[in-house]
Amino acid sequence: MEVSLEAINKSFGSVRVLKDVSLHFPSRKFVTLLGPSGCGKTTLLRMIAGLETVDSGLIRFGDKVVNQLAPRDRNIAMVFQSYALYPQMSVRQNLAYGLRVRGTPKAARAEAVERVARILEIENLLERRPAQLSGGQRQRVALGRAMVRKPDIFLMDEPLSNLDARLRITMRAELRRFHLDLGATTVYVTHDQLEAMTMSDHVAVMNSGMVQQFGTPAEVYGRPANLFVAGFIGSPPMNLMPGRIEAENGVPVFANEQSRVPLRHLTQRLQVGQHVVLGARPQDLHLASSTDEASAHGRVWVVELVGSEKLVDIDLGGKRRIAVQVRADAHVREDDPVHVRIDPAQVHVFDASTERRVFEAA
Ligand SMILES: Nc1ncnc2c1ncn2[C@@H]1O[C@H](COP(=O)(O)OP(=O)(O)OP(=O)(O)O)[C@@H](O)[C@H]1O
Ligand SMILES: [Mg+2]
Repeated sequence: MEVSLEAINKSFGSVRVLKDVSLHFPSRKFVTLLGPSGCGKTTLLRMIAGLETVDSGLIRFGDKVVNQLAPRDRNIAMVFQSYALYPQMSVRQNLAYGLRVRGTPKAARAEAVERVARILEIENLLERRPAQLSGGQRQRVALGRAMVRKPDIFLMDEPLSNLDARLRITMRAELRRFHLDLGATTVYVTHDQLEAMTMSDHVAVMNSGMVQQFGTPAEVYGRPANLFVAGFIGSPPMNLMPGRIEAENGVPVFANEQSRVPLRHLTQRLQVGQHVVLGARPQDLHLASSTDEASAHGRVWVVELVGSEKLVDIDLGGKRRIAVQVRADAHVREDDPVHVRIDPAQVHVFDASTERRVFEAA
């Protein structure tokens, strides 16, 4: 089932929480709404579920406008951000409840419950009551209640937020697999960009009630459309350096007090004097052994070991810092003088006033 949102607006009192949101969720795809706290993700999800009215705009399932359709008539399953289990029922009864009220036969109910309990690693908790569970176990039961159904549309609001690091990673894969098997259109909400990037077919990056970019994980990571997306997607975060465009032998050069980077591939797109922000991911930067091939120079401020890599924070002077990711076995120590090589093919350029990406010629 395809889901379309067309020019959705919503205010609570005088606060506009959704501003002209238009999104298209293709049938059977896993789409994530990603953005910081308060940007309107839950509100949008509740509108798709029919639990929240829209001030203006249309919501369609397939060709059908569903603005007036009651939640129970939408054939959706939803996992809420703040979930409540039935306290007097066992985990097994909680999981089966939705099927029981819909008149699903007992044997089919039992089978569905066993299946999701296995996926969610809660088989040994089926006879307990919610009060006897940890927060993460309760969250998995809440997830399971929605997973026993066979909806057209599956809506999930931060369903992994209370799980420990290991479970989060296994559940990411389980949910992705579950989605492929179920074949429902899934709309998933999270503020965790790693979750969004690993699970989704498409990601809608939101900020302040507006969609900033809609694309595949590779697109929003590889070609962020504006400064917000550039700073939000990617870990460790992208380095963002303000500067101006100068010309050198007819080639535009990014320049500020700490660095110079020629931008030959953007000759047609940049103007001398233009204020821009240069973005470079720590993974795309390198420490150089000699000064000639370097674009910036500084002193190592802090070195952090992160598993198989080191994150080197470099002080460029003038209160500017830049993070470079190197292999864990690289010899680099705090206070060492270093040179940073910035590969022009690996940078992202944004106009400083519009904050939009300066796109390469196709
Ligand atoms: N019933 C309500 N009445 C008034 N304001 C509300 C109501 N529900 C949400 N808001 C406000 O609308 C904005 C969007 O809220 P929403 O819950 O959609 O954010 P979110 O993106 O889900 O955030 P989080 O990641 O923290 O869950 C917030 O500023 C919130 O305070
Ligand atoms: Mg929310």
